[in-house]
Amino acid sequence: MQMRTKALLEGHRSLCLIGLGYVGVPLLASFSDIIKVVGVDTDEAKINSLNQGIDPNQEFASDSFNLDNIKLCSNLNEVLNCDTYIVTVPTPITKNKTPNLSPLKSASKSIGQKLKKGDLVIFESTVYPGCTEEVCIPILEQESNLEFQKDFNVGYSPERINPGDKVHRLDNTIKIVSGDNPDTLLEVSEIYRLIINAGVHKADSIKVAEAAKIVENVQRDVNIALMNELALIFDRIGINTNSVLEAASTKWNFHRYSPGLVGGHCISVDPYYLTYKAQELGYFPNVILSGREVNNRISRFLSNKIVQHIGKFGLSLSEARVLIKGVTFKENVSDLRNSKVIDLINHLLSYSIHVDVVDPWANAAELNKNYGIKLASTPSGKYDCIVVSVKHKQFLELDELYYSNILKPDGLLFDVKNQYSGKLKNIAVWSF
Ligand SMILES: NC(=O)c1ccc[n+]([C@@H]2O[C@H](COP(=O)([O-])OP(=O)(O)OC[C@H]3O[C@@H](n4cnc5c(N)ncnc54)[C@H](O)[C@@H]3O)[C@@H](O)[C@H]2O)c1
Repeated sequence: MQMRTKALLEGHRSLCLIGLGYVGVPLLASFSDIIKVVGVDTDEAKINSLNQGIDPNQEFASDSFNLDNIKLCSNLNEVLNCDTYIVTVPTPITKNKTPNLSPLKSASKSIGQKLKKGDLVIFESTVYPGCTEEVCIPILEQESNLEFQKDFNVGYSPERINPGDKVHRLDNTIKIVSGDNPDTLLEVSEIYRLIINAGVHKADSIKVAEAAKIVENVQRDVNIALMNELALIFDRIGINTNSVLEAASTKWNFHRYSPGLVGGHCISVDPYYLTYKAQELGYFPNVILSGREVNNRISRFLSNKIVQHIGKFGLSLSEARVLIKGVTFKENVSDLRNSKVIDLINHLLSYSIHVDVVDPWANAAELNKNYGIKLASTPSGKYDCIVVSVKHKQFLELDELYYSNILKPDGLLFDVKNQYSGKLKNIAVWSF
């Protein structure tokens, strides 16, 4: 066993986690079971909440954290007795859809100011291939006055967790690991093996590990984009896309994906990291960018469908009432970031349509503060259209009687995720 892992296991050292969000908190929970951990996040409210054992993202129950092994703070300067850092800060995009590396640069700067000889820094944030070496390491060197590989080492291990997914978890998903040399790779592997039962995959280099993560999400984005494009075509033809896919899926080599809204912090963002790098290198990534463009069109396509339905009955748009069920970017999570349902709501509001929004997972204050949208506690009255936009488990249980009580006789239910497929017989349902 490497000295670093031994010191962590014997409690002589703590592991420092920087960024306690959807990715950092699961690591905090898992590592705190085994070793001492110091968690750092610039968001004081998160620190206060976690200090009481409350996960701000509602993913983990309080008994998931071994608080005896956890110290939390909002400033890296307060961290003592650490020689290993794991960075899980966000990597969003700018308005122009280019990488926004500010959080990553700022975290690298703070670590650089504390860095000592012999330290190891592992980055987990999703980035384009080359980012760790071209952006983060130079900052670490500059701030520390230390020399990379001689004085300190760097690893990269992308996060693959899927918040809300109780089947594919941190501990049972193989972790890709990489390091700046074989010894670093060994140390990085050992650290993650403490918490990952499924084991690790040792990538050839940091760039390979960075690229592997991006590719996972690009592949998913492009596959969904193809389904969305088919849905736009089949809508014009007048056939149901899900029925087409169901039929086509009976062939052994057909890959089933579903059309829909593509939002969130990963699938709708990560491809832009790769397309940025590609263009920097003089290559225009046609397929990836076309896929993004098609996926970004779907909220407008849905709002047009709603407007068309309202127009059919001669109702003025300002008299129309629409209920949106589900505003988070996907099912069974509270994450609102880049939710395309928010785009859909804004399109409808721009037509002066009355929109009520309900969601058992979303945080009302956050929705109002960040997006200016009010969350209703329950539906009220009858609606011209109901859009079930997210497959939250609470919605799966709802039946025909529930919907017929809140839908006008000429109303239309948009089953965006096709979750009631064939189950609602006596009300009008649209699905892809
Ligand atoms: N959310 C996912 O499902 C998921 C899955 C795989 C990979 N990733 C990647 O993991 C990274 C983190 O994503 P996330 O969803 O956990 O983000 P998040 O926004 O939920 O959490 C990031 C946390 O970092 C904190 N932070 C920002 N700058 C900081 C700094 N300089 N110092 C200390 N703390 C700082 C923020 O306050 C926040 O709490 C991203 O690169 C993301 O693409 C996310």
